[in-house]
Amino acid sequence: MQKMVKQLLAWYQENQRKLPWRQDKNPYHVWVSEIMLQQTRVEAVKAYYKRFFESLPDISSLAAVEDDILMKLWQGLGYYNRARNLKKAAQTIIEEYQGKFPDSYEEILKLSGIGAYTAGAIASISFGIRVPAVDGNVYRIYTRLTECGEDISKTGVQKNVREKVAELVPAENPGDFNQALMDLGAEICLPNGEPHCMECPVREFCMAEKNGTVLKYPYKSPKKERRLEEKTVFIFEYEGKYLLQKRAEKGLLAGLWEFPAEEGCLTVEEVLEKVKAFCGEVEELELLGKAKHIFSHIEWRMIGYMVRLKKVRPEILADFTFATKEELREKYSIPNAYAAYLKQVI
Ligand code: ADE
Repeated sequence: MQKMVKQLLAWYQENQRKLPWRQDKNPYHVWVSEIMLQQTRVEAVKAYYKRFFESLPDISSLAAVEDDILMKLWQGLGYYNRARNLKKAAQTIIEEYQGKFPDSYEEILKLSGIGAYTAGAIASISFGIRVPAVDGNVYRIYTRLTECGEDISKTGVQKNVREKVAELVPAENPGDFNQALMDLGAEICLPNGEPHCMECPVREFCMAEKNGTVLKYPYKSPKKERRLEEKTVFIFEYEGKYLLQKRAEKGLLAGLWEFPAEEGCLTVEEVLEKVKAFCGEVEELELLGKAKHIFSHIEWRMIGYMVRLKKVRPEILADFTFATKEELREKYSIPNAYAAYLKQVI
């Protein structure tokens, strides 16, 4: 196994991906990159990473940032609680650690939004601490290397694998070891039946490769299906402005802005009926088409309508607000789920 680790590190030295967050080991930078990368692809994160530090160059600026500005910086990355937790943790670092990022695995793990994987990545990359960073990529690599056929969606199995990988982490350059596994998982030991075993620097140690069983691993028991939710999205336009509402402070997409919507996919007739009761006289109704958005547990199937209004009931402004195109672009954070409709407006 020691030989395998050596070969992996040598491969990483030669072949590591050039990524913006590998230019320095500043824990603030590593932390933000790891949070962005939790549910977002590397390519998509690059632009966000740079822009984030242009606005928030240090931990104290993150701790003090207004929520609306933070949400705007995060818009498009999804899973907005990640950004809220970043701010919360930054406040903890200011209040409890005098603004200095904590330098032990246990203290890092206590910060909001940081789990074992992220704490392991920051501790090993920024502080050279000998801890693993085990995510889905590493489960896949490990189960293939050892032909482990246990159900990797079970927490007990995951714990076992984490312990085994922890033993492999070298005392020297633990951060490189963890990032080498990330790169191996991203470029060679790929999921969905596409691993590039011929190019793998550790193939001679891989049981699954030896036995031609690579595609059997990792084994996962079938997932629960996503809940389908149908909804009708209304883009109400009045004098060049568009109606928005704020989502509840708890739950899915908490506190973000959205176009008003109703449950179910409504027909033109049903839309006209609803709109009359709700908003005033309709000048023009246009079907914007269907769209879907997939969250981890829910799938939205949407139908959108542009509704140009002749008159607006002033009472509705207690619960809704009108935004110009510029404000839709610059001021309000509107989740990606509405991208198909937002695109047609701005
Ligand atoms: N995915 C998660 N963390 C990463 C990192 N530090 N480098 C590349 N991909 C990653």
